Amino acid sequence: MRIKKIACIGAGYVGGPTMSVIAQKNPEIQVTVVDLNVDRINAWNNENLESLPVYEPGLDQVVLEARGRNLFFSTNVTKAIEEADMIFISVNTPTKTYGKGKGQAADLKFIELCARQIAEVSTTSKIIVEKSTIPVRTAATIKSILDHTGNGVQFHVLSNPEFLAEGTAIADLQNPDRILIGGEDQGAIQALKNIYQAWVPNERIITTNLWSSELSKLVANAFLAQRVSSINSISELCEATGANVDEVAHAIGQDSRIGSKFLKASVGFGGSCFQKDLLNLVYIARSYNLNEVADYWDQVIRINDHQKTRFAEKIIQSMYNTVNGKKIAFLGWAFKKNTNDTRESAAIYVADHLLEEQAKIAVFDPKVQKHQIYKDLEYLQSRTNSENEYLLEVAEDAYEACKDAHGIAILTEWDEFKDFDWDRIKDNMKKPAFVFDGRKLLDRNRLEELGFIYYAIGE
Ligand code: NAD
Ligand code: UGA
Repeated sequence: MRIKKIACIGAGYVGGPTMSVIAQKNPEIQVTVVDLNVDRINAWNNENLESLPVYEPGLDQVVLEARGRNLFFSTNVTKAIEEADMIFISVNTPTKTYGKGKGQAADLKFIELCARQIAEVSTTSKIIVEKSTIPVRTAATIKSILDHTGNGVQFHVLSNPEFLAEGTAIADLQNPDRILIGGEDQGAIQALKNIYQAWVPNERIITTNLWSSELSKLVANAFLAQRVSSINSISELCEATGANVDEVAHAIGQDSRIGSKFLKASVGFGGSCFQKDLLNLVYIARSYNLNEVADYWDQVIRINDHQKTRFAEKIIQSMYNTVNGKKIAFLGWAFKKNTNDTRESAAIYVADHLLEEQAKIAVFDPKVQKHQIYKDLEYLQSRTNSENEYLLEVAEDAYEACKDAHGIAILTEWDEFKDFDWDRIKDNMKKPAFVFDGRKLLDRNRLEELGFIYYAIGE
């Protein structure tokens, strides 16, 4: 079956970039990305490409090429569903905040709403593609809703998890390590394969059964997060023993069985997915009574929480055990460089910890907007909004953020921070001038020569 029209429900960090690349590579297919969020859709349609709702290097050029040709962004969900031969579900699947499984299980209400709406609207057969990350066996739920509430038309459900990382989304989409398709119906699998074959070599397209595909996504994220927690746990041991975590990472990474990637010690992993997907994996394991399995993966999250707390504590302890009334500049708020996404960013938790100690924080991030930073703190409900606004300011300029600061904490590894005039920064700070490098971004020798007291994770 040749697909002529695709609809994608959810125009977020996955739906937007993924569909942009699919449209770019398949100019003969009409791709419509829909969302209930009017502001988001307006931003996707904005003439000014700097106003796209997602910041990703290279995304603007892909949108420029395909938008209006065969790529469309719309709030008309019903129309897009009705017309499509293939529908990608790319909505959010956050951790549940209520009821059974609160704080662990994935909240599938948005997925279920999509399935119900597809069933209600569809008058022709369709292939439904799970792009969102979901618990293993969700395809059975989707299929059951479609078959019981639909108009008797035929639906095939495929699992096609997304492996892009933010900040490198376009490169990841254009040159993926692999595309994973899980399904039962060979015709439906082939229809989705055809779309990817427009640019992905055949040997990189893996097909499995539905459950392997769904589970592989959770497992991939769990393994990646585990590597970060593994090296972060060793970073604490390095600090205690005089070893250097970068040297250890390099030495072990040369073993081809271990590999060198994803071994950068940090203030802790963030992002919308690692914690959510690990929690979900733990929840699923427990629901099958596999408590040892659940405990094993739970520890990855615990080390991550510990790393964030430990970094905040290090700042307090180094600054003579009190940060009350002291100004600490935060360089970076995003959960990693080259994205404006702040979900679960370590910066939020480190800030919250220091604000509890009455520190004054000034944040500079090149891509994150002021209102987002306050929203992230508000979400924690640790104090009132006016208290957050009194204690934390957001600076437009990094030098302004660092002016009169007692200490600087580096929370995101933005490249531009390396090229700052650190001499000028030091001159304008209170002395002794501390730098706490949560990303191991700067050069210790250079900073110490300039007279900073420099602390980096894992040294
Ligand atoms: P997001 O919150 O950025 O976007 C989801 C969008 O779906 C929102 O704009 C929301 O308004 C919309 N939506 C929700 N319900 C809807 C409905 N019924 N109809 C229309 N629109 C609806 O989320 P995201 O980061 O794009 O993640 C989406 C999924 O992809 C999640 O399951 C996530 O785990 C997975 N994923 C994310 C990444 C990533 O890097 N962010 C990578 C791989 C997989
Ligand atoms: C991650 C995965 O890498 C993607 O494959 C997956 O599709 C995605 O989650 C998802 O499902 O959402 P992402 O969270 O965007 O992508 O970014 P990563 O590069 O994985 O970084 C995650 C966090 O780990 C960041 O805070 C990063 O700074 C941290 N990290 C990463 C480290 O601290 N050290 C490392 O060596 C690598």
